[in-house]
Amino acid sequence: MSLVIAPSILAADFTRLGDQVLDAERGGADWIHLDVMDGHFVPNISFGPPIISALRPVTSLPFDTHLMIEDPDTYLDAFRSAGADLITVHAEVCRHLHRTLNRIHELGAKAGVAINPATPASAVAPVLPDIDLILVMSVNPGFGGQQFIPLTLEKIAEVRRMVISSGRTIRIEVDGGIDVANAGPCVRAGADTLVAGTSIFRQRDLRAAIAGMRSAAELRVTA
Ligand code: DX5
Ligand code: ZN
Repeated sequence: MSLVIAPSILAADFTRLGDQVLDAERGGADWIHLDVMDGHFVPNISFGPPIISALRPVTSLPFDTHLMIEDPDTYLDAFRSAGADLITVHAEVCRHLHRTLNRIHELGAKAGVAINPATPASAVAPVLPDIDLILVMSVNPGFGGQQFIPLTLEKIAEVRRMVISSGRTIRIEVDGGIDVANAGPCVRAGADTLVAGTSIFRQRDLRAAIAGMRSAAELRVTA
């Protein structure tokens, strides 16, 4: 599976969000990662469907929508209508996870499940037939610019083993504190999709930041 780099606009300049998305596309991004926070599941509030629909005409890159919200079921239709291509919900908040994932598919989007650092990999086992992506959080969600938690690497490897034995094509995404130093180890452990906010949008040269991350990741794969 080819490597996907998904810059998170949480670290972008919000006064010129459209341009920043375009910069990311021109700089070689594969997806745009959208961090939605509700002030309940996580101690921060970011943005919702209106911002996503405003950005939709700017790019044709897939919108990778990470819902860090308490009650995702209520908002699935709104995020899909706003232009989300992939909708990821947190396992910790979904009382009827299987139903939620089916609803995402019914809406015509791809479905992902995210797990926090303190949530075991086994939380995704019962829904492996129902997902397109597993998001392994490498920080506690809520803020950009946090430090990568090294134990994540073991969890990625465990998730990779589960995906292989399921025989399904499921992406493994890692999110939080990703940079050129840990991108390689993450990919080597089994990740194929890297989310990065600070290490892309807070760099002067966005294209160089994306290229640097890609080569760091790919270098370690072939090493
Ligand atoms: C954390 C978010 C991440 C975050 C990534 O709650 O889910 O997507 O914005 O930002 P960095 O790369 O700065 O950790
Ligand atoms: Zn995220």
